[in-house]
Amino acid sequence: MTLHAQPSLFAMLLALGISITSSSPDAKERDPRWDAFEQPGWEMGRQPIAEEEIAVIMALKQRNLPFLEERARAVSDPSSSDYGQYMSHAEVTLLTGPSDQHIAVVEEFLRLAGVSYRFSKAKDFAALICSVACIERLFNTTLLHQHGHQSPPISRIRAYTPILLPERVASALDGVSLNAPIFMPRKPQETVGQPFIFPASGRTEPRIDPFIVAGDGLLKLNFVAYCKDGEANRDSLEEGICSSSGHTITSFEALVIQEENMVKVVDLPVSRSLLGQKQVKCSGEVTCTLFNTTIGSIGNYLGTRVVLRAFFDDGSATSFSNETEVRSTWPVPYTTPGFLSRFYNMLPNLPIKHPRNAISVAEFLGQYFNPADLDSFFRVMGIRTWPQTQQPVTLGPDLPLTGSVLGGEAQLDIQYIMAMASNVSTWFWSVPGKELATTQEPFLHWLMQVADHDETTAPLVHSVSYSDDESTMPLWFQKRADVEFMKLAVRGVSVLVASGDDGASGYRTRGGHMEFCNLPRPGFPSTSPWVTAVGGTQLSKMASPVCGYTSEKTTVNCKEAAEVVCSSDRGGVITSGGGFSNNFARPWYQEDAIDGYLAQSDSPVPHENDSYQFNRSGRGYPDISAIANNYLIWMKGGLEATSGTSASTPLIAAMVAHWNEVRLQNGQPPLGFLNPFLYSLAQTHPEAFNDVIVGDNRCGLAACCEKGFGAARGWDATTGIGSPRFDVVTELVRAGIGRKGAPLGSSLSTCTGTEAMPNVSSWAVSPLLIGLLLGAAAMAISCGMVHRRGKGVNRPVLSACLLDSHREVRSAC
Ligand SMILES: *[C@@H]1O[C@H](CO)[C@@H](O)[C@H](O)[C@H]1NC(C)=O
Ligand SMILES: *[C@@H]1O[C@H](CO)[C@@H](O)[C@H](O)[C@H]1NC(C)=O
Ligand SMILES: *[C@@H]1O[C@H](CO)[C@@H](O)[C@H](O)[C@H]1NC(C)=O
Ligand SMILES: *[C@@H]1O[C@H](CO)[C@@H](O)[C@H](O)[C@H]1NC(C)=O
Ligand SMILES: *[C@@H]1O[C@H](CO)[C@@H](O)[C@H](O)[C@H]1NC(C)=O
Ligand SMILES: *[C@@H]1O[C@H](CO)[C@@H](O)[C@H](O)[C@H]1NC(C)=O
Ligand SMILES: *[C@@H]1O[C@H](CO)[C@@H](O)[C@H](O)[C@H]1NC(C)=O
Repeated sequence: MTLHAQPSLFAMLLALGISITSSSPDAKERDPRWDAFEQPGWEMGRQPIAEEEIAVIMALKQRNLPFLEERARAVSDPSSSDYGQYMSHAEVTLLTGPSDQHIAVVEEFLRLAGVSYRFSKAKDFAALICSVACIERLFNTTLLHQHGHQSPPISRIRAYTPILLPERVASALDGVSLNAPIFMPRKPQETVGQPFIFPASGRTEPRIDPFIVAGDGLLKLNFVAYCKDGEANRDSLEEGICSSSGHTITSFEALVIQEENMVKVVDLPVSRSLLGQKQVKCSGEVTCTLFNTTIGSIGNYLGTRVVLRAFFDDGSATSFSNETEVRSTWPVPYTTPGFLSRFYNMLPNLPIKHPRNAISVAEFLGQYFNPADLDSFFRVMGIRTWPQTQQPVTLGPDLPLTGSVLGGEAQLDIQYIMAMASNVSTWFWSVPGKELATTQEPFLHWLMQVADHDETTAPLVHSVSYSDDESTMPLWFQKRADVEFMKLAVRGVSVLVASGDDGASGYRTRGGHMEFCNLPRPGFPSTSPWVTAVGGTQLSKMASPVCGYTSEKTTVNCKEAAEVVCSSDRGGVITSGGGFSNNFARPWYQEDAIDGYLAQSDSPVPHENDSYQFNRSGRGYPDISAIANNYLIWMKGGLEATSGTSASTPLIAAMVAHWNEVRLQNGQPPLGFLNPFLYSLAQTHPEAFNDVIVGDNRCGLAACCEKGFGAARGWDATTGIGSPRFDVVTELVRAGIGRKGAPLGSSLSTCTGTEAMPNVSSWAVSPLLIGLLLGAAAMAISCGMVHRRGKGVNRPVLSACLLDSHREVRSAC
């Protein structure tokens, strides 16, 4: 990390560096679990106050992980006879909980230190609270505030020298939160945040604000007129535009230029009914009049620019404004709950009734939602709600307050998941972000909270729209989170994670950092083999390679819009994340899918000798996708358009809630970890998915790299197996398709009662587990049930999708 410390800190660092070097001369012994915190783009800040109290989470080593993995695979693989035979929390604890010896070591360490601490239920995490000075002493490290530049600005107290624990303690742990990553919400297009300045003089032709806002076949543009004397117009419509400079403008003419030389000519007489106006600052202190207008009947799905000229009362005209001054835009229909219902054939407002059917959106870093906005959203979208579940269940201290700081991520997640899964009990699982100094690590806190929650009521589906660059976080952390997801899988909980909004090369290309185009940068937790990563699509009329084909004899102009990869260079605002993990190997359920992809004759991936190297044996993502752009959300009293895999993720989560409902109503266990089911369905019932075959993810949010991954027939590293045909999947789930093993219901039936869940000790004992646990307290085992819990992941991937505030989006519903 670059040093931006004060001289005194710098000196301290040097001193520490020397002492560390001398105390551990053998570099081979360096264990990366204890490295100092490091995240790209973060800088060191001030020293924390020695008395300030902070929380640290220690992750204890767990046992029997290969067996856990085998069970997780068996219960989620439709071809296994153990499909759906989930384990309870108690069983998982019995299987994987830390050894008594490790618990004793950690307990003794904390007791001797005299700090206040508590263990998670399974004793697999310990959280302690102590002053900065005490933490520095206990962990033999030095702490510093460290800040990310991203917005909102976040500062965390983290180790800036390696952590040094007594050997006994170190060997009992996977790691501690002092070097854990911080998932940050990343704002999109921060580079275009400056208000646009119109020159005060020196032009003749009108000047259009570079951003044209488009949606639903409408274009909205802002412009300033220039008079014959070259000065910006300050006169109002009523006074007569440019009347004070001698010659009045009587009308404008706009040319809307779409791809392939399609030009629409729009005559705009100067009239209050066609033009809006307001006074704005041009460059310097000069005011000028900013006009706005809306042009209708624009072709959707086409790259679009506008030029403008003015006519004076003497019959003369200016030249057209410069076409390259205006950014291309792509009019597309707005995405609304009604639109999604129609597109994916989901019955709108179909209530979910099973009391066990609960879902959760994980929120971090102080993202709130506004209940009043949620009501307004339901009203304007025509969504019915039922009194008992109208409001989400909220967990955590970031409770929604009317008028509080709103999070675009939180608003999007809650509005769409509730709209698309009516009457489902929805949890807003908020993990404190900024307010409490002691909550330094929301991600690990969330894992602990989810694991500790009463499993008879906990959500069956978790939607997580946060992610970060896999290469920037400690391996121990990723492996540990992966095991936590596996523990959820074995308990029948589905975890959906957004695949990211920056294409294959990742968020570091934001702000035009094209040097990061050199390699793919996969994002975690979407690369965990135990989550379902959700990518993004957008609608296009070029959804098949034949669309747009032109020769002397034929021109193909496809009329139907269908899904292509969501990509910023096609008007998707964001680009679907996807690629291959460097840390996690390709899981069994993807073998054929990825082999098929890599072998495609139309080469959707960079050549094996290309400098853009990716790990062909790594876990490929995303797994599935859905429309991700131009969602209308209700925010601060109006509709705004937002885009991101953060939008497609809660949508898929809502679909999963409906599929779980079908199973629960049939007395079957929920779908649990989805990937083996989804991949086998894609193979046996390809009609259940819309295969996305056009597009690629070489772009980022704004700029495009040369390389990325292409869409292809079947699975691909941009949209996975494509988007679900909701109704087809529902019928297949109803028919019990996807499982070849024993009937799902049978061994489970005792566990799926809708009322009191049997408690662990009353369940049947699984011979398998008993064998494994031998003498251990093998009282409790088996049958798997209906419990679920959520876990999540933490980092807002999504925020990146809000259109910058500069663009105002017109409601068009
Ligand atoms: C920290 O570790 C160094 C090197 O092993 C050791 O000399 C020092 O005593 C330790 N400091 C504390 C406070 O434990
Ligand atoms: C101009 O902008 C104002 C405020 O944003 C809006 O109310 C009005 O409808 C717009 N006028 C046109 C013609 O688009
Ligand atoms: C149009 O604008 C571009 C970018 O500002 C500039 O490079 C170009 O010279 C302009 N063309 C004309 C004809 O003014
Ligand atoms: C909503 O769900 C509850 C159970 O959570 C159920 O009792 C109720 O009937 C459902 N409402 C509707 C309208 O189906
Ligand atoms: C590729 O992935 C595999 C499986 O995770 C891993 O063992 C290997 O080290 C990775 N290779 C590279 C070059 O990252
Ligand atoms: C890639 O490079 C290696 C070594 O130069 C060569 O043997 C191999 O044939 C190349 N692969 C392809 C597909 O060209
Ligand atoms: C679970 O079993 C224990 C011990 O038999 C009993 O005390 C407890 O009430 C039971 N809990 C439930 C929910 O049945």
